Amino acid sequence: MADLSTVFTGIRFENPFLLASAPPTESESNIMRAYEAGWGGVVTKTIGLHPVVNVAGPKTKFIRADNSGTRVSMQKRPDTTLMASWNWELISDKPMDWWLPKIRSIKAAWPERMLVASIMAGSGNDKELGNWQTLVQGVQDAGADAIELNFSCPHMDRVDMGANVGKDPVLCSVSTQAVKEVARILVWVKLTPATANIVEEAAATFLGGADAIASSNTFPSLPLISADTLDFEVNVDGYVASGGLGGPAILPQSLAKMAEMTQAFPHREFSGIGGISTFEHALNYFLLGCGTVQVATAAMLDHAIGPNVIAELTSGMHAFLERNAGRGWTSLADFRGLRRGKIVPHSEIARPADAGYHGGYADAEEEGYAEPGPGA
Ligand SMILES: Cc1cc2nc3c(=O)[nH]c(=O)nc-3n(C[C@H](O)[C@H](O)[C@H](O)COP(=O)(O)O)c2cc1C
Repeated sequence: MADLSTVFTGIRFENPFLLASAPPTESESNIMRAYEAGWGGVVTKTIGLHPVVNVAGPKTKFIRADNSGTRVSMQKRPDTTLMASWNWELISDKPMDWWLPKIRSIKAAWPERMLVASIMAGSGNDKELGNWQTLVQGVQDAGADAIELNFSCPHMDRVDMGANVGKDPVLCSVSTQAVKEVARILVWVKLTPATANIVEEAAATFLGGADAIASSNTFPSLPLISADTLDFEVNVDGYVASGGLGGPAILPQSLAKMAEMTQAFPHREFSGIGGISTFEHALNYFLLGCGTVQVATAAMLDHAIGPNVIAELTSGMHAFLERNAGRGWTSLADFRGLRRGKIVPHSEIARPADAGYHGGYADAEEEGYAEPGPGA
């Protein structure tokens, strides 16, 4: 059997498959079950110091499309295919004092498995930057192997938290720097995909000292409106707020965001998230340069922590390495990033042999618009 272990940001993972920060990692028992099932690591549900009260109603629902038609709905019905998860769940509603003993006992029971603590604080003033540092000191003293800074939660009212930090390169840099001042363990940062040019936030985050970037969190979205009731399929008293889309629907979008970053920073470390439920999905992120991947939606749908998902991911990777043994591939390092260089500007894609194309300009030398054709 090939060895699936991998070194990412200097730490060894038994395999490159992690549970992402989400309901599968919200408790000690879930995390222990995840290790038993074979996950190489877990990222805890995000831990914060500010007050958290979730909505009075379901926090997550799943969007399904009819197999035989075009209906897309959250309504539970037979003969459908899962398209996406939709959630407006906040970070962990358990306080840091609840989490720290749990982290300690998880690490005592599973010292070889990687435990990444996801944390979140504000970024608007020194007190909030101090809160980041309090969280870091707590989780690292409890034994976490790495920290993931949540600059990506899409449903924050506060302008100095979650995705609102990830949309502001200065806040990305300053918050990462504050964390790095006290961190003795590795610092990963989870960026929101909801920005115009994620390379700018990634550059600022690396400038602040991040050891790796993870992406994507869920994409901002609304639930659909039912044609029968004219209500949003998720609502409380008829009202809804923007929530996050995850699962299969975001795989291509998340890959595009990730590719922008891995191309801009080919020597940096990235953890790919979004729409993964099989090794074939994960392979996309690896071929673009990611060193680990993380899974949320698919695991939530599979006995809460994804025992069948991790079994498929590892057996899929074994089969892939076996199929490619002739190329001398024995580990992820042998194929990581192999397709990163295949994404080019549109004008660099071959045209038919007799056609020239200069990126929408009249020709390669002359800038401007083409002459209007006859009758224009
Ligand atoms: C119900 C739910 C809760 C989530 N909570 C968090 C969270 O607390 N912190 C975080 O960084 N990401 C959170 N996420 C985002 C996931 O970690 C992940 O980035 C996203 O769902 C995309 O991955 P997927 O397509 O495998 O679901 C949550 C996702 C869902 C569906």
